[in-house]
Amino acid sequence: MSSDCLILAIESSCDETSAAVVRNGREVLSNVIFSQIDLHTLYGGVVPEIASRKHIDKVNQVIEEALDKAGVTLKDITAIAVTYGPGLVGALLVGVSAAKAIAFATGLPLVGVHHIEGHISANFIANPTLEPPFGCLVVSGGHTHLVEVKDYGKYEIIGRTYDDAAGEAFDKVARAIGLGYPGGPKVDKISNEGNPEAIHFPRAKVGDSGYDFSFSGLKSAVLNYLNSCEMKNEQIVVADVAASFQKAVIDVLVGNSMQAVEQYGFKKFAIAGGVASNSHLRAAFEEACSKRGVEFFLPPPILCTDNAAMIGAAGYYEYINGTRHGLDLNAIPNLRLGEK
Ligand code: KG4
Ligand code: ZN
Repeated sequence: MSSDCLILAIESSCDETSAAVVRNGREVLSNVIFSQIDLHTLYGGVVPEIASRKHIDKVNQVIEEALDKAGVTLKDITAIAVTYGPGLVGALLVGVSAAKAIAFATGLPLVGVHHIEGHISANFIANPTLEPPFGCLVVSGGHTHLVEVKDYGKYEIIGRTYDDAAGEAFDKVARAIGLGYPGGPKVDKISNEGNPEAIHFPRAKVGDSGYDFSFSGLKSAVLNYLNSCEMKNEQIVVADVAASFQKAVIDVLVGNSMQAVEQYGFKKFAIAGGVASNSHLRAAFEEACSKRGVEFFLPPPILCTDNAAMIGAAGYYEYINGTRHGLDLNAIPNLRLGEK
């Protein structure tokens, strides 16, 4: 095992407490995820203070379980990787503190990882042959970024959202149509029974590049539609609203991404982040990429939503590129991609 590089990775940026052991960046030996979703469902969204407190409860337990499941001890580990931003500051601090404590006690190197770099790197686990360069759409509850992955650890943001993230739009619209939290998976499911052409919601065009996104107008259009139905005493078909809203989001995500594919000449394209587990989005990208002869990559749903294995993959490439952090590593809630 001596030539292997084993990363112990920790993720606590939002509402999942997770630890994983990843071998040589691509092989997941364990990936323990404690989801706090049930706790936050009561409030209709993530409550930051509750998230931090639950991370404190769970962090050591998930780390021990990750080591046990991988069949290793801290003596076998090469380095500790931890998400240090972006995310909820109190939540991030729990993972960062745990990682620093282990690094201090063992003398192991500490590698801080950008959460989005983690999401992108989930594709390296799922697809052993994937290598940069490629284009990647990262769509999660907090982010919507179109990224050029130039090399391991080298990124350029091509497009971003002006307002709400795609996942945030899913969650807000789901709440408005009575589906509850978290909205994404519920909209995905109920859309199977709805007509995506039933209602025409707007596809926003923002910025000059054609790569940026805006979802707040779409969210308002759904709310206006619901209000006007109520005023006219017309029945609301929830499945149709969900399917039509989802179609509008997917059209824009695929449209901007394919424009980038054509203009940047990407031969490979990947998707990542919680919203990338959406079954309709996956199918739409599959079709759009195959039409253009572009190789398409996507992680399985469990590696799309927050997990530590993706941090272990990103941490491995950062580690071999020489990234090291000291015991003064801090949580950075608005950390930019590419910033160290
Ligand atoms: O990546 P993630 O776990 O956390 C962040 O980094 O934000 O993403 C969570 C987001 C939530 O907004 C959730 O509603 C959305 O991903 N999501 C989905 C689906 N599964 C999760 N959105 C659409 N369809 C899904 N199947
Ligand atoms: Zn995430």
